[in-house]
Parts: sequence; structure tokens; C-alpha cells
Amino acid sequence: MLNNDSINQAREILRKAQRIAVLTGAGISAESGVPTFRDKDGLWRKFSASELANPEAFRTNPQLVWEWYGWRRREMLKAKPNAGHFALAELDKRASEFLLITQNVDNLHRRAGSQRMVEIHGNIFRNRCTECGHIEPDESCDFDEGGTLPVCGKCGAMARVDVVWFGEQLPEKELTAGFHAAESCDVFISAGTSAVVYPAAGLPEVAKLRGATLIEVNLEPTHLTQIADFSFIGKSGEIMPILIGNVE
Ligand code: OAD
Ligand code: ZN
Repeated sequence: MLNNDSINQAREILRKAQRIAVLTGAGISAESGVPTFRDKDGLWRKFSASELANPEAFRTNPQLVWEWYGWRRREMLKAKPNAGHFALAELDKRASEFLLITQNVDNLHRRAGSQRMVEIHGNIFRNRCTECGHIEPDESCDFDEGGTLPVCGKCGAMARVDVVWFGEQLPEKELTAGFHAAESCDVFISAGTSAVVYPAAGLPEVAKLRGATLIEVNLEPTHLTQIADFSFIGKSGEIMPILIGNVE
């Protein structure tokens, strides 16, 4: 249940804010049908994401890892942006300084119209060469039963998906932009993330320490709930439009 007084208060603070930063996670795409990582539907066959999204798994079984990414690409291509994505695209248009920092690799924010954004965990619709580092767009998803695996368009070596795997560094430029926005914003919104994976999870903490108003929107409480100025528990597709102002 939403408390009307507090949502009105948060709306007002957001309306007056000059600098806004937002962190999103898998929960913002859940209502689009994209499975999250840590909820009960976060499994594929018998594997958890952490067993597949790591360099060791790709070294030992590239076929299996590509099959998983093929399945995920298919799911993400079928999905459409939801009201939560559209509300954030609206906020982007309206705010004077704005940055959306997403942990999602599904392209849904961009498809909803967001422009000032960084993808700190990469994008599933890009390949990166394991030899020369060349990056290119790719929406192919048919790798089951021995379908050919992607190779680099430049040097022909094996390509991997251009997302950040467990144990890997995040892209530096995007991460720096994210921390800069968190340090300098008036309002920080954390939406649809369990906020357990660092360094992303450090962004709302930094914003709060630097004096920003921290607003959390999530289906369940997280450890951010204790430090948030406002915590709205529920679906982001329902709450974000109310918070951002295109729905009363
Ligand atoms: P998680 O699966 O850890 O968390 C998703 C959060 O969204 C949970 O707290 C859910 O309660 C919440 N949620 C689910 N449905 C929702 C809805 N309709 N509205 C609002 N909230 C909802 O996903 P992330 O926090 O994104 O990293 O996970 C972070 C990172 O862990 C991912 O980017 C991925 C993974 O390892 C990499 O792949 C590098
Ligand atoms: Zn190459």
C-alpha cells in the first residue's frame, strides 16, 4: 500500500530537483517479462546466473554459455518496455541534469526513449572479440544444438557477449560517470534492484552520504530501505509513473 502523503512529498522533491540520478536493476524489467536474477524464476535449466555468467564457464563450455545468452536474447527481444521504463524516459526529458545508471543489459530503457544513460553491466545485444576486443551489435540467438557460435567480424576469433561477468571489472568510463552523478545529485532513485552487487550497490549509498534525498522503489525491502528517505514497496511499473508525475 502506498502512503499518499509520502508519495506526494517525494513527488514534490523530485519536481524541484535540479540534478537527478537513477539506478535500475532487473526488477524494473520484471513486468516486461524479463526474469530477474535472485527471485525464484531466476533459473535457466538447472543453472543459476552466477554459474553461467563468468569467464571460467565460458572457457570450459562456450556452447552452453552462448545457449543461455541466446535464450536470454530471445526473451529480451520479445519483451516490451513497461510503464516504469517510460516514466524514466519522461524524467530524462524533464530534468536539467540527469543520469540513468542501469545494471540491465536488455536495451529496454533505450527502447523506451531514455537518452542520458550508462549501461554499467554492458549490453546483451553486442559481441566483443576475445582476441582483439572489437565490439559489434548482434541480435542472433540460435545457438542450440550445435548452431555456429559468433565470431569477430574483424579478426575471426571467437566472440563473447559484451556484458560484465562475475569477477570482471565494470567499464571504467560508465562507472566513473555513475559515481560522479551519485556524488553530485540532489535526488537519487534506486528502482528494482536488490542492491547487493557492488560497485553498483555503492551508488545509492554514496548519494545518501553526499546529502542527496534517496528514494527507493522495490517489490520488497532491501538493505537500502534503512537508509532511504522514502521507500515505496511495490511494482515499479505502478509506482514510477505516480512518483514521476504522469499519473495521479
Ligand atoms: P536482482 O534479481 O538481484 O534483484 C531484483 C530486485 O527487483 C529484487 O529485489 C526484487 O524484489 C525486485 N523486483 C522484482 N519485480 C519487481 C517489480 N515488478 N518492481 C520493482 N521491483 C521488483 O537483480 P539486480 O539487482 O538487477 O549483474 O541484480 C544486480 C546484478 O546481479 C545484475 O545486473 C547482474 C547480477 O549478477 C551482472 O550480470 C554483472
Ligand atoms: Zn577480433
